Amino acid sequence: MIIKSAEFVISNTDFHKCPQHGKPEYAFIGRSNVGKSSLINMLTNRKGLALTSAKPGKTVLINHFVVNDEWYLVDLPGYGYARRGKESREKLREIIEGYILEREAMTSLFVLIDSRHEPQKIDLEFIEWLGEQGIPFSIVFTKADKLGTGRLQMNIDAYKETLHETWEELPPVFVTSSEEGTGREEILDYIEDINR
Ligand code: GTP
Ligand code: MG
Repeated sequence: MIIKSAEFVISNTDFHKCPQHGKPEYAFIGRSNVGKSSLINMLTNRKGLALTSAKPGKTVLINHFVVNDEWYLVDLPGYGYARRGKESREKLREIIEGYILEREAMTSLFVLIDSRHEPQKIDLEFIEWLGEQGIPFSIVFTKADKLGTGRLQMNIDAYKETLHETWEELPPVFVTSSEEGTGREEILDYIEDINR
């Protein structure tokens, strides 16, 4: 897919106030610092479109970006940032859950997983919850550039094995690096296929 345009539209805490054009939207979720905002910049080829930071907890709102005037990419706050107080963690959880459960235009969710780590309980529970709620999603391994190919493949295989404990059939899986552009075509083709 060719990205002709990509623009920031609006930030919200409430899915009710998100744009109401009925265009399909694709949202990015995962732990704080996993690389959601960086992936949006990589996919659109627009550095600085979504705000990123080396410190976790950067994105705290629902951010809409319109692409080719046809569909949206949605940057969501991360979950599980321990240093955030309980109250604000809870508020973020409400924002995220409200959006995922209630947003009709939400077409497919990308769940980002840091490819360097062992399967984490918080991610597995989140994926489990998506299954229970019947939310369409795929899995995106991030920061692939930080590992050698052998190690990367080992981690991904191990992750898939863990998922197979609960899922007979796995959702689509993408391997990405926002530094190197890995996985860009695959994700854009996937979105293009669904948009058709
Ligand atoms: P929150 O908004 O806090 O939830 O984080 P986020 O998931 O949006 O992460 P963000 O995109 O801000 O990236 C966090 C850090 O990881 C930044 O320092 C990025 O430069 C770095 N990062 C993200 N993706 C990659 C990647 O593919 N490779 C490498 N090497 N670093 C990455
Ligand atoms: Mg972010």
